[in-house]
Amino acid sequence: MSKNSLVSKAFAAAFAVLTISSIAGIVTMVILYKTQISTMNPTPRPTFPSTTTGLPPVMRLPKNLVPERYKVLLWPHFYTRIIEEVNVTSPNQTALFTGNTTVFFHCVQSTSTIYLHSQDLEVFGGSVVNIDKNERIPVIQTVNHKDQTDFLEIQLDNALETGGNYSLYLAFSGELSDNLLGMYSSTYEEDTPGHEDDRDIDRFLVATAMEPTYARRVFPCFDEPDFKAEFEVTIIHRKHTRALANGINTDGSNIIDNEWLSTAFQPTPLMSTYLFAFTVSEFTATPSSGGRVEINTYARPEATQAGHTKYAAEITRKILDFFEARFGIAYPQKKLDQIALPDSQSLGMENLGLITYLEWGLLYEEGVSSLLHKEEIALLIAHELAHQWFGNLVTMKWWNDIWLNEGFATYMSIFAVDAVEPDFQSREVYILDNLHSAFEADALASSCPLSTSQEDVQTNSQITGVFNTITYSKGAAVLVMLADIVDKPVFDKAIRRYLSDWKYKNTDQNILWEYIQKADDENDGSTNVAEVMDTWTKQIGYPLITINTTSGEGFQKHFLFNDSAVSSLSWYVPIKVMKETNQISSIMLKPGDSGNKDAFLSTKGEWILVNVNCTGYYRVNYNPENWERLLTQLQTDPSRIPLMNRGQLVDDAFNLARAKVVDVNLALNLTRFIRDETELVPWESTIRNLEYFVRMFDRSEVYGPMQMYLRNQVEPLYDSFSNYTDNSTVPTGHSSQTNQINAIEVACSNGLPKCIKMAQNKYANLMIINSTNNIHPNLRSVIYCQAVAHGGKEEWEFAWDMFLTSYDVSERGRLLKALSCTKKIWLLSRYLDYTLDPDLIRLMDVSSVIRYVSKNVAGQALAWNFIRAHWEYVSQGNVAGLIEVVTSRFSTQFELGELERFEMDYDLGPAFRTVYQAIEQTRVNIQWISENKDVVLHWFEAETA
Ligand SMILES: *[C@@H]1O[C@H](CO)[C@@H](O)[C@H](O)[C@H]1NC(C)=O
Ligand SMILES: *[C@@H]1O[C@H](CO)[C@@H](O)[C@H](O)[C@H]1NC(C)=O
Ligand SMILES: *[C@@H]1O[C@H](CO)[C@@H](O)[C@H](O)[C@H]1NC(C)=O
Ligand SMILES: *[C@@H]1O[C@H](CO)[C@@H](O)[C@H](O)[C@H]1NC(C)=O
Ligand SMILES: *[C@@H]1O[C@H](CO)[C@@H](O)[C@H](O)[C@H]1NC(C)=O
Ligand SMILES: [Zn+2]
Repeated sequence: MSKNSLVSKAFAAAFAVLTISSIAGIVTMVILYKTQISTMNPTPRPTFPSTTTGLPPVMRLPKNLVPERYKVLLWPHFYTRIIEEVNVTSPNQTALFTGNTTVFFHCVQSTSTIYLHSQDLEVFGGSVVNIDKNERIPVIQTVNHKDQTDFLEIQLDNALETGGNYSLYLAFSGELSDNLLGMYSSTYEEDTPGHEDDRDIDRFLVATAMEPTYARRVFPCFDEPDFKAEFEVTIIHRKHTRALANGINTDGSNIIDNEWLSTAFQPTPLMSTYLFAFTVSEFTATPSSGGRVEINTYARPEATQAGHTKYAAEITRKILDFFEARFGIAYPQKKLDQIALPDSQSLGMENLGLITYLEWGLLYEEGVSSLLHKEEIALLIAHELAHQWFGNLVTMKWWNDIWLNEGFATYMSIFAVDAVEPDFQSREVYILDNLHSAFEADALASSCPLSTSQEDVQTNSQITGVFNTITYSKGAAVLVMLADIVDKPVFDKAIRRYLSDWKYKNTDQNILWEYIQKADDENDGSTNVAEVMDTWTKQIGYPLITINTTSGEGFQKHFLFNDSAVSSLSWYVPIKVMKETNQISSIMLKPGDSGNKDAFLSTKGEWILVNVNCTGYYRVNYNPENWERLLTQLQTDPSRIPLMNRGQLVDDAFNLARAKVVDVNLALNLTRFIRDETELVPWESTIRNLEYFVRMFDRSEVYGPMQMYLRNQVEPLYDSFSNYTDNSTVPTGHSSQTNQINAIEVACSNGLPKCIKMAQNKYANLMIINSTNNIHPNLRSVIYCQAVAHGGKEEWEFAWDMFLTSYDVSERGRLLKALSCTKKIWLLSRYLDYTLDPDLIRLMDVSSVIRYVSKNVAGQALAWNFIRAHWEYVSQGNVAGLIEVVTSRFSTQFELGELERFEMDYDLGPAFRTVYQAIEQTRVNIQWISENKDVVLHWFEAETA
């Protein structure tokens, strides 16, 4: 699955308008939501089943029966179009599906009860045959457990024999889900040009989402990842529709009658149930040219026709070729389909041979989508393709090791994108998107380890809970570190053997360690892989390494934001040290080891830099003298410090200040060098870290000097791009393009006059010509927002008109945000009122609009009043995210009081946990301001005097 698993339809659609930098926020929200679910339905920890005691299993299926092959027939009865089909009475749309399945299995230990999974299905019949003897075994009773196990228990008249081969036939029916899990229907609107009034004609399609435990909602099956089997599927679907599934379509579709077609697929390779998928739609294909594997990218006919699938089709072939060469193993099927769905619970899902994406994750509109969106698409496709090996071919034994899927897919996507689109600088994107978000989530005492015991991951909500930032981002970070410890070529060799030896099987992290160990032993045998890595995967958190360059001491301590939390955890920490003389040395700091190291010693007053290129998963603090030397180096010749570390030094200093390990002045001092910095990583790091300062101080006297400082710092960067910006063009390369946007945003929002003038001019031109938009897609979002911010009623209404008349998803998303940028209270207030009218703002956008308005300092109080006044209406959407954003500036006793009254007086429903967290956060903010306001004000005043 992709990192941003989404939890509701409205949420899924809202994703379309988010930019790269808000992805981390989404992930946090998803986690909050999931924690919420698991804490609201506390479940006792189940114990392990035993197959030998004869007692019924508790949560996991017994291992006495091993499924080998399924024949599955599925028949969704819904209509893809209901308007034109019948002229007198429209048929009613139906959610019904029916089907049947025969599973062939082997008995390894005699039993008279068959356990498999089935949830929310009506199951009929049930007939068991001993294939070896061609003999029927009577079924006494079939019981579907209506508890957390979802067991379908089939009691037999006589016991199945050890070593025997059997088949089980079941027929069933169910309903399409309305929460995008299992088999669900999705709706989209077909544009019919020339019919202004009814341009929205509803079309329906059926899609599936099985990971982790939803296959059991579609057909009865042994729904655990290590019960791999072949799936031979037949889909019955309406004429004019096309069915896709994991396997290869055998010979087109057969006509059943004048309403129905039947499409049969060849058996899949061995795979887990969670990778099962099929779709029924009127979508059309874009083939990728060349190659052994036939690749097709499916989308709405309009999107295909407009060429929005072209980029995906092109890059998928290149990435697949890259992985085949890299892993030395061919992709296991002759076909690969991918499909862009209007609704999906995750941005991407790697189903074997049929990868599903949310439209936003696959469709790229040349000239309309920003180039940054293109990069997101490339990274996502690379992630899902990497899963065809990591996850699909070699699968974890159980969900507790899901990081073997997600960590590897995230890690491998970096190299694939780097190979096929070097301009995207995916290694830098990795630092900003993964390393920093893992650091953030993993500095809480409530974090979870990468790999837990199987016992801790048993119930469905515990299983859903393992898909979090830690699994994806820490997973990738730990692999980056491991590859660096043993050396990349050694790591790559081990991975190729691991994939080859374990294909079509299931593994756990110990097996991975064995392969790395073997390759390391063949090289220099310097590392005890399991001993080192278990400290990173089996424990929560990460260390802060404190270096004293005067004494040469270096020691580790668990890094936590909460300075009162106590922890005695320690790690094997690979430390790569760089001295001012460019000398590099590597050390392994062991648990309990606080020995003095020559490498940490500064003899001639030179600086020392630890964690070169940020391959290690830890933060670093130095004695004040070394910080001072590093600061001086940054201000005199920053290029002496590797790029990644320039960003990391800023991020470390701000986070150490947050944990009260260093003074806030040190962190602020580290923003000085940014004036001469042109690279993205340090800038992005600074901007993200200063966001909190902006939120805390943009309503106080600190803000004036702070804006003046930032204006000053950003001006050279702004100027360095002005040739591009003024001509509405963009530089090449991801980093420069992102930094160009940063430069405009920081410059304009802190009042740099030439920036404001530029935005206003471009927007004024657009208002005059109106028809052709000459603003580069990358720059539109920031230009619209800044022009509306520094304009009045006329600018706002022009944006509103564009919003109402645009059919384009990217453009509508930008405008929705830009409309919230005005400083005029009455415009903001009216905009909020529009959200109450679904004809003006669709329900799925309501929560985005309120969040955008509340991010604007002029709209914050309005938004807070608005959600209280219209709680019943707005709480239909994603309230958790809404509350988090609307209260994120709260930092006074008065606001704390209001929030506490809100908690008491309102029916908060599922938002209660977020409100509780907002109260906690407000207290933290009040405390932080009281400790830091004077210091920060003084620092900015001194800096701008
Ligand atoms: C629709 O109406 C036409 C003409 O009245 C008729 O020939 C046709 O059979 C009708 N179609 C359906 C599906 O009822
Ligand atoms: C649709 O549903 C309505 C009410 O449930 C029923 O009266 C009508 O006959 C149904 N139409 C068809 C075509 O099934
Ligand atoms: C499964 O259902 C289909 C469609 O109803 C039917 O044609 C087929 O015979 C069924 N399979 C078995 C084994 O009964
Ligand atoms: C750090 O990264 C840079 C740029 O990728 C590379 O040239 C350099 O060799 C790396 N340094 C070390 C010590 O790995
Ligand atoms: C570093 O070590 C020196 C020499 O032992 C000591 O005087 C100094 O206090 C230490 N500095 C820090 C910040 O611990
Ligand atoms: Zn994934």
